Amino acid sequence: MTETAHPAVSAEQAGIEQALTDQVVASFDGTPDPRLRQLMQALTRHLHAFIREVRLTEEEWNTAIEFLTAAGHITDDRRQEFILLSDVLGASMQTIAVNNEAVPGAERAATEATVFGPFFVDDAPEIPIGGDIAGGAHGQPCWVEGTVTDTRGNPIPGARIEVWEADDEGFYDVQYTDGRVAGRAHLYSDEEGRYAFWGLTPTPYPIPHDGPVGKMLAATNRSPVRASHLHFMVTAPGLRTLVTHIFVQGDPQIEIGDSVFGVKDSLIKDFDVQHAGTPTPDGRALGGDWARTRFDIVLAPAGA
Ligand code: BEZ
Ligand code: FE
Repeated sequence: MTETAHPAVSAEQAGIEQALTDQVVASFDGTPDPRLRQLMQALTRHLHAFIREVRLTEEEWNTAIEFLTAAGHITDDRRQEFILLSDVLGASMQTIAVNNEAVPGAERAATEATVFGPFFVDDAPEIPIGGDIAGGAHGQPCWVEGTVTDTRGNPIPGARIEVWEADDEGFYDVQYTDGRVAGRAHLYSDEEGRYAFWGLTPTPYPIPHDGPVGKMLAATNRSPVRASHLHFMVTAPGLRTLVTHIFVQGDPQIEIGDSVFGVKDSLIKDFDVQHAGTPTPDGRALGGDWARTRFDIVLAPAGA
């Protein structure tokens, strides 16, 4: 049986409610910027529709205000609870979907984008091709290699590739209080669009869940854990900036569910574990097991 969206209200009551929505929508009619007018009027319509659909109680309205107030209080330069909220509601991924449409007729599909997350840092150190991003972060060494091309398959030399990831305890450097810079770097693709670096095999970790968003996840029986991933941001002149991650094939958290809905099939890569003693691509001597993966990056044209 299909559930009705909300209990029926009398025609008179529905009229009162609709009149208020119309009044608030009309209050934005004089907004000089047409886009702002569109945003405010659509927001009003959807917000009012939500309140009417769920028949929001005044107590629930108060709880929502308290929740947003707590999100504001915990937010500072290092912690952004509103972005976390957007992430766990899928609003971040929906915005990314709307803004990163597939390029029609492309010979090669542009690499899919996913959430940025709160742990990017602007001034990560530069490494040469084949360099190591770990900077002391612990984890299994992982050789990452690939190419950067456009959607016609032309190599993109000099693309700036930012990479960042958590250590094997599930923490980014910025979550430690000692100012360390680890598990992040940037490098540039070579003349043939190739790149390679040593990173760490990614591990699953929870998003910060000691605040109101964490409480909301607990109350709704949802896990804060993200599927294991390695972040990339790739920029090149004339091409659309790509913010994405790669995920680890076989990571059980992919099936369980990524807390911010970031996983896309095309971004799940094989991370092949190599036993200790297997020669490394660059002759580096490693004491134990290591892994390797390949990620070929295709950038869409700017404005596509
Ligand atoms: C992250 O991948 O770093 C991340 C993304 C969304 C929320 C929290 C963390
Ligand atoms: Fe992350």
